[in-house]
Amino acid sequence: MRNQTYFITTPIYYVNDLPHIGHIFTTTVCDALARYHRLLGEDVRFLTGTDEHGQNIERAAKREGVSPLELADRVVGRYRELREKLDFSYDDFVRTTEERHERGVRELIRRLDAAGDLYTAVHEGWYCSPCETFYTEKELAGAPGGGPGATGGEPSRHSPGAPGGPDRRCPVHGTAVEWKSEENVFFRLSRYQQPLLDWYDGRPQPVHPASRLNEVRSFVAGGLRDLSVSRANLEWGIPFPGRPGQTVYVWLDALTNYVSALGLGSDRAEDADLYRRFWAEGDVRLHMMGKDILRFHAVYWPAFLMSARLPLPTAVWAHGWWQRDGRKVSKSAGNVVRPDELVERFGGDSLRYFLLREMAFGQDASFSDEAVIDRHNNDLANDLGNTVSRVVTLSRSAFGGRSPYQSCGDNPLIEVAARAAADYRAAMDDLAFQRALESLWRLLAETNQYLVAHAPWKLIKTEGPSPRLARVLWNGLEATRIVAIGLLPIMPRAAAKVLRAIGAAVPQRLDAMTWGGTPVGAELPPPAPLFPRIDKEAYVAEAKLSVSPPTAAAPEGGPAAAAPPTAGAGAPAPSTLAPSAAGAVAGHGEGGRISIDRFRQVRLRIGTVRAAEPVPKSKKLLKLTVDLGDETRTVVAGIALAYRPEDLAGKQVVVVTNLEPATLMGVESQGMVLAASGDGAPVLLHPGAAVPAGTEVR
Ligand code: MSP
Repeated sequence: MRNQTYFITTPIYYVNDLPHIGHIFTTTVCDALARYHRLLGEDVRFLTGTDEHGQNIERAAKREGVSPLELADRVVGRYRELREKLDFSYDDFVRTTEERHERGVRELIRRLDAAGDLYTAVHEGWYCSPCETFYTEKELAGAPGGGPGATGGEPSRHSPGAPGGPDRRCPVHGTAVEWKSEENVFFRLSRYQQPLLDWYDGRPQPVHPASRLNEVRSFVAGGLRDLSVSRANLEWGIPFPGRPGQTVYVWLDALTNYVSALGLGSDRAEDADLYRRFWAEGDVRLHMMGKDILRFHAVYWPAFLMSARLPLPTAVWAHGWWQRDGRKVSKSAGNVVRPDELVERFGGDSLRYFLLREMAFGQDASFSDEAVIDRHNNDLANDLGNTVSRVVTLSRSAFGGRSPYQSCGDNPLIEVAARAAADYRAAMDDLAFQRALESLWRLLAETNQYLVAHAPWKLIKTEGPSPRLARVLWNGLEATRIVAIGLLPIMPRAAAKVLRAIGAAVPQRLDAMTWGGTPVGAELPPPAPLFPRIDKEAYVAEAKLSVSPPTAAAPEGGPAAAAPPTAGAGAPAPSTLAPSAAGAVAGHGEGGRISIDRFRQVRLRIGTVRAAEPVPKSKKLLKLTVDLGDETRTVVAGIALAYRPEDLAGKQVVVVTNLEPATLMGVESQGMVLAASGDGAPVLLHPGAAVPAGTEVR
């Protein structure tokens, strides 16, 4: 009998943004599931990739002075690096610029055409080009949405011409929309209203969580209009087959990745096999995504597949958003958290653990440096790390560097471990990662209580390597082994390290979570710290410097704050500079312009650095004494990794002088200096020629 197949996908990520914590989250979730299902013995295929076509990418590339493909290559490079750092185990990475993908798109379109579902018509409506979407009057009148997924992309092609009245603004970006009229190819989405409603009511339920299913169902029940699936005058995309001058609409292009990567449209035998195994005859076909793009996956994609006479996904799962300071983490909200630095400080496993432990899956969660550090220090360094090192150290000293010579099949931990393993599996099957981890931590807590109750550190002294001591310590090792196996999908590297530390094998199957697997008399290497503790105060102070300001205040590559203005929740930009278009989608810095009057509220002056010294216990902070002509200020700047204190004396810098003071690592900062801070080290801004200290910058 063949093994059950399990096909899991992330959305393909746009290449006009570097990966941030939100992107990494979806991939981490899929990776944990892929690893879990491999441990169940299933035939797993895990797919991710990049979405490289469309006007936004074209524009972003132009801004950077490179070709769209060069921009894409660069971002793909970053995704590859993160794969190593975070141990992502995907089997395939698809790029929409690959020939195999374009072939798949052509094949899907051929099928839509053969079904009689494509026709050409004039498309008129209000168009937001950053969204690449037409909006109806009703949508423009409504409240700001949560992204293009929340506002839809259907045509309003029956409008007679540009209606008059006040300026219309995009509900996502807050920028003016334009009236656009062009000939496009349409897909007869309206035909699929009833089949989609039937699909939602099918069992097992295809759209998760249930609250989202209801939203999607009522959207569809409200009526579906046909969907424009091509754009005229768009260079960077796949030419629409048989419709000269038309380019395939980015979402039809992008969604097809899920089957093009499996070989749809290819005549090679191995592709046909892959497609058959994981799609046509696959058992699980699961798309994972953030809630912002559920509509594309739960309405348009299944309708395309129905039209093409292809099987539908078996599950579409929309998770919530990571938020920071109350807003969705995104480039244009200016609150992105890049994973690179977190990985460097905490390690990839710790970040993976945080993401899966902190968010109740399906709901929104809030990201903060304090929360990351608390999880790292409390859950990993203390609860897990200390338990491992305690049982290993005691066993080594009692049994000559080895695990105990005797196992134990009768003690209260056995039942506790069996319950924890069962709860863990049930939770993982429900995609309730938080609950799964809580059940492992309950086992850890009970193990520690057991150890405290039997005090092996006393037995060593009173009894030496007695059979009783052997059993107590073996039980401690064995319970830890069961926790570590449960952690293999979540923290693959750390879990394997724990297993090696206690002398156990890294199993290929989850069945190894049953009691009894720790070998007796195995050699135990001296324990190395698994999760070195992080100094919370130093980290939080430095981390505040890493949040990039809103794009309205400092567009990509523009000057950024080298020291934060407030000691508040970690948002470095003064509120007066916050962009007006709350919730703007990533990649469109034009939204939320500020007036010149607002900008003038920021007082910038040239200061001369008189002295610079490191801030004790901090790797990144320097304390600068800056002469402003009429006064001298202390300014803390996060530039220690890029500048030596002795090289700064006498240098002139740009200082923001009217900020609320902030205390960082016990030093009060009375302003901030400006530095260009892209992804590399910060570079201080200096005037082009020496000017008197205190000169205004305008
Ligand atoms: N290219 C489209 C998807 C096409 S799939 C056929 C796209 N790309 S994206 O780069 O914007 O990435 C979207 C995905 O990134 C979201 O669906 C979600 O999985 C993840 N996230 C981006 N920001 C996020 C948060 N702040 N929080 C959680 N996930 C987020 O849309």
